[in-house]
Amino acid sequence: MHLFNIILSVSVFIVVQGDDDFLYDTFPEDFLWGTATSSYQIEGAWNVDGKGENIWDTFSHESGKVANNDTGDIACDSYNNYAEDIQLLKDLGVDFYRFSLSWARLLPTGRVDQPNQAGIDYYNTLINELLEEDIIPMVTLYHWDLPKDLYDQGGWENEEMVQIFNEYAIFAFELFGDRVKWWITFNEPYVFIVYGMGEGYHAPGLESPGEIIYTAAHTVLKAHAEAWHSYDELFRPTQNGNIGITLDTDWKEPLTDSPEDIEASERGMQFSLGWFANPIHGSGGYPAVMKEKIAEKSAQQGYEQSRLPEFTAEEEARILGTSDFFGLNHYSTAMVQGENTVAPEPSYLDDRDIITSVNETWIGCDFVYVVPWGLRNLLNWITNTYDRPNIYITENGMCDYNATLNDEHRVNYYRSYTNNVLKAIKLDGCDVRSYTAWSLLDNFEWAYGYDLRFGLHHVDFEDPARPRTPKASAEFIRQLVADNGFPEPEVKTQNLNQVKPKEFVRAKFRSGTQ
Ligand SMILES: *[C@@H]1O[C@H](CO)[C@@H](O)[C@H](O)[C@H]1NC(C)=O
Ligand SMILES: *[C@@H]1O[C@H](CO)[C@@H](O)[C@H](O)[C@H]1NC(C)=O
Ligand SMILES: *[C@@H]1O[C@H](CO)[C@@H](O)[C@H](O)[C@H]1NC(C)=O
Repeated sequence: MHLFNIILSVSVFIVVQGDDDFLYDTFPEDFLWGTATSSYQIEGAWNVDGKGENIWDTFSHESGKVANNDTGDIACDSYNNYAEDIQLLKDLGVDFYRFSLSWARLLPTGRVDQPNQAGIDYYNTLINELLEEDIIPMVTLYHWDLPKDLYDQGGWENEEMVQIFNEYAIFAFELFGDRVKWWITFNEPYVFIVYGMGEGYHAPGLESPGEIIYTAAHTVLKAHAEAWHSYDELFRPTQNGNIGITLDTDWKEPLTDSPEDIEASERGMQFSLGWFANPIHGSGGYPAVMKEKIAEKSAQQGYEQSRLPEFTAEEEARILGTSDFFGLNHYSTAMVQGENTVAPEPSYLDDRDIITSVNETWIGCDFVYVVPWGLRNLLNWITNTYDRPNIYITENGMCDYNATLNDEHRVNYYRSYTNNVLKAIKLDGCDVRSYTAWSLLDNFEWAYGYDLRFGLHHVDFEDPARPRTPKASAEFIRQLVADNGFPEPEVKTQNLNQVKPKEFVRAKFRSGTQ
């Protein structure tokens, strides 16, 4: 090696130093990289071209529900700016784009007998233009924007929703399934059920933390299963795609290594992820510990039967195995210890019998604490609990309250979290197949309105044109995707040398910098 090359190696090495246990390696060759959005958070155009009203339109229009009374009426105006979004995806070099269909844009009443052609045209164009750029569409059917008419008919408390959702799913498979090969039925049932029907700070704003949440989840699980079976029987033979559900959870780390805390951590995981994952990916039906705890609390509270409904054996069998992959959204971690409460009021949070906390050393932003090893532990837990499923990470990302383009904290988040995914694959043997950065754009962050930002691209919500500007994190993701991970610094140096080492070194040499 020439002296000059050695100098180069050193300078490159300095750039990447920092954490001793950082893993330099690349992801499997067929690993998929993507980024994501959802219809209500980006599209705007809430009442044009025949779109029906949905529960987030209604909720955000009510004063005091969302920070600053923000609404998704215009949002990023992606209904009009979609071509610009596709250009940003192209610049990132991602393999796929995860977005959701606005149910009420396609079916204003929620029912398939009255489709809206402008909505069909919009998604056809989006899908076609993505494919022209070699970007795989990954489509979520339900990202929380339930048509208002269906809510007025009882929403997820109405058992008929099982068939209504199934018909909507079939409608979407028929229209788009020739080109869409990746389907997600529901995004984060835990969040839209617990926040929307338990705590009330998401649409539709119900506050029934111990009753409706369990019956609504029951309906959602059945609706998911019917849509999966419809795809499996009617469409898979000709369309050959993949269909699953995306579940979310924090990692719940035991506070100490006492048996009580370890058990509390397991119980916390079963109450969040297991609630939906055990019926689909696990042993079938709700986790035993949920059944036991909720029955016990319900009896203490004077209920004649458990607040947690039961599946018949037939239903249990029909739901089990209805996901071609394990879709996972993850943001943060909590420490967990056990607790025994006798709650006078029925409440999901009390049913769990755990106390959660965060470590004082963790830095964070609102609900996201930066605990990169939490994701690795979670991937291992899923691998052990559900017999090593193929995991698709369908969201992961970091927020801030700043309109800064130099989002170093987000770069650090992505770098450390993706490195823990790499460790889970390479060192632990987890079968993780994709990573999705949330989000392509700053957007309408639900109850936080436009205050809280997750975008790789800044969006100026004061400007009617909603201009997008890449942040430092967009450049980081672009490089990560191009490298398919974190190649050894030495390898990188050799690549650099192959580009134009002599001119580079000579210029350095002349300028006297080394
Ligand atoms: C939201 O709107 C209501 C009614 O117009 C108003 O009283 C309230 O101050 C608004 N809140 C914010 C944060 O602007
Ligand atoms: C917080 O984390 C640090 C570093 O891992 C650890 O030493 C400390 O004991 C933790 N604090 C608590 C209260 O668990
Ligand atoms: C805002 O940005 C500054 C520097 O860019 C940073 O120190 C601060 O923590 C950020 N605040 C939030 C709430 O993200």
